[in-house]
Amino acid sequence: MNKETKLKYNEYRKIIDEHLDKYIGVFYPESIYESMRYSVLSGGKRLRPVIAMETASLFGVQIENIIPIACAIEMLHCQSLIHDDLPCMDNDDYRRGKLSNHKVFGEATATLAGDALLSYAPKIIIDNTHNVNSEIILRVLKEFFLAAGVDGIISGQIVDIDSEKKEISKETLEFIYEYKTAKLFQLAVRSGAILGSASDSQLDCLTLYAKYYGHAFQIYDDILDVTSTLEDLGKTPGKDADVQKSTYVSMYGMKQAKDQVLFLCERACDILNSNNIKSEILVEIVSDLAEGVKKCY
Ligand code: IPE
Ligand code: IPE
Ligand code: MG
Ligand code: MG
Ligand code: MG
Repeated sequence: MNKETKLKYNEYRKIIDEHLDKYIGVFYPESIYESMRYSVLSGGKRLRPVIAMETASLFGVQIENIIPIACAIEMLHCQSLIHDDLPCMDNDDYRRGKLSNHKVFGEATATLAGDALLSYAPKIIIDNTHNVNSEIILRVLKEFFLAAGVDGIISGQIVDIDSEKKEISKETLEFIYEYKTAKLFQLAVRSGAILGSASDSQLDCLTLYAKYYGHAFQIYDDILDVTSTLEDLGKTPGKDADVQKSTYVSMYGMKQAKDQVLFLCERACDILNSNNIKSEILVEIVSDLAEGVKKCY
């Protein structure tokens, strides 16, 4: 990412971090708020909220109108990570370079912290989005619930878990990536675009961009699970092979997985170019992904 784009990215990130800290205070019963804060305020790239803010700004949305939505999307992402790490799911002891939520607070609290974040997030949108037409807020909320539920992450996660130690079809693998990962990126671009009253065709093309990016992102994550270290990843490598998870890497091999990431990255950039969507951040997060995978060759 070039210096100027990085600066803008980090500005967004700072705003997101400050607001997440403000939105999730500590009240009685403290243990649940502390568990929520532990995972939400533990770093992370903040990719999805940055994408939401950047997309909104492309359509001239005032920054204060997208902040609560961007933060809600990050809360949903954190919820998915807390639950993904539970022993009954991927059983991962580390996340973002720290012990995962259940290792610190126990499984019951971690489960409840995930549930709490999921319901807290839309409340944050409702309470803090002022000066936006309520029909638009309703549309964004519907997008949020679609991405969070059986129309989104939940279905991706269940098929991911059910596909361990099994041979699955290409279509099933694509379903997993689409639902467990791409839907959240789609929520990010769609929320920003809806808030900015984007046209249907602009919405469709951003959704397609996020689909390609999301698929590429998950394949790269699967590659890193094989090639990276706990130190660099902040989570335990080798987990996918341990449980014989069906991934692009396990099904097609490393070379084809890398080629596919590069192919999808190209498609994602083509969509932006051919539709005249001009965003350094949206382009450069894709090129960073492509650069990352090239280093693995
Ligand atoms: C991790 O997402 C979950 C996947 C979809 C692979 P990120 O890599 O964006 O995680 P953080 O937010 O930076 O920790
Ligand atoms: C991520 O899949 C999808 C989620 C909904 C969390 P992974 O299980 O591969 O994510 P990591 O590797 O644990 O971050
Ligand atoms: Mg998982
Ligand atoms: Mg996992
Ligand atoms: Mg992974």
